[in-house]
Amino acid sequence: MSDYQKIIEHIHDDLLRRKSYGEVASYIPELAHVDAEKLGVSLATVNGDYFGVGDWQDQFSIQSIVKVLLLSMAYTKLGGQLWQRVGVEPSGTPFNSLGTLEHDKGIPRNPFSNAGALVISDILLDLYDDPRQAMLDLLKNITGDKSIGFDPIIAASEKAHGYRNVALVNFLKSLGNINNDEEVVFNLYLDCCSISMNCLQLARTFMLFANHGQTLDGKTHLLNPSQTKRMNAIMLTCGFYDEAGDFAYKVGLPGKSGVGGGIVAVLPQHFSVAVWSPRLNEKGNSYRGLKFLEQFTTETEQSIF
Ligand code: DON
Repeated sequence: MSDYQKIIEHIHDDLLRRKSYGEVASYIPELAHVDAEKLGVSLATVNGDYFGVGDWQDQFSIQSIVKVLLLSMAYTKLGGQLWQRVGVEPSGTPFNSLGTLEHDKGIPRNPFSNAGALVISDILLDLYDDPRQAMLDLLKNITGDKSIGFDPIIAASEKAHGYRNVALVNFLKSLGNINNDEEVVFNLYLDCCSISMNCLQLARTFMLFANHGQTLDGKTHLLNPSQTKRMNAIMLTCGFYDEAGDFAYKVGLPGKSGVGGGIVAVLPQHFSVAVWSPRLNEKGNSYRGLKFLEQFTTETEQSIF
């Protein structure tokens, strides 16, 4: 549908006319240096078309968006066995919560909480000789951009200030759900969060979840159709932490956010769309990212519902 370019331009312009709210994430000091007024959108379709507007070619820190890729890399190798270590229930708690872990005996409620992503990172260390390289290879194969990499400044900044993640990985270890050295797990997770990508690269990468687990050219095949269904289900129910219900209600697409201000969402068999706007609402999700996607699915009448 070639109208996509017109629609995303019109919503982008609408948003720029309206006041933006929220704050740029500052608990990772380096993230606070980003220009708060950036706004980019890219949409890729299963027909191979792509569209973009605003700052769609600027790279930014993908942060928790990487949790979907970490999970997929573990799930493709382990299948259902994975669910012995992490659940698939929405948590209803903030992304960095420690609250339910003791009660849940160290089994995080889902893989998109920080606790869940730390357990998945631990699993990847057992499954891959070099999980960092495996992640970069995946992204480079999909996007064709060999420059995609970890941002050492962002990673170092978060490692120096990531007190809650230090607490989480140690608590998980004490509860018996981390096999590897806790610092090694912590470093892998935060390196992956630091990856920089732009909206087009993210939309192309998440085409996997719109296209039965493979790239459009079929060259990269990460998941089978049934596994892809499950990844999309977890994105819908857990992708926005304690705002997952609100996102499903207003947007109606599986998706995932990151504190860098990115959101990626997918309409299976149709498109994937990435939005970037660094100001976050009180739940840690991009204020304008959510507004964009709500208006987009409302105006196009395209959602999973
Ligand atoms: O673990 C953290 O706190 C960050 N590296 C990622 C958090 C994040 O992106 C939450 N998403 N909205």
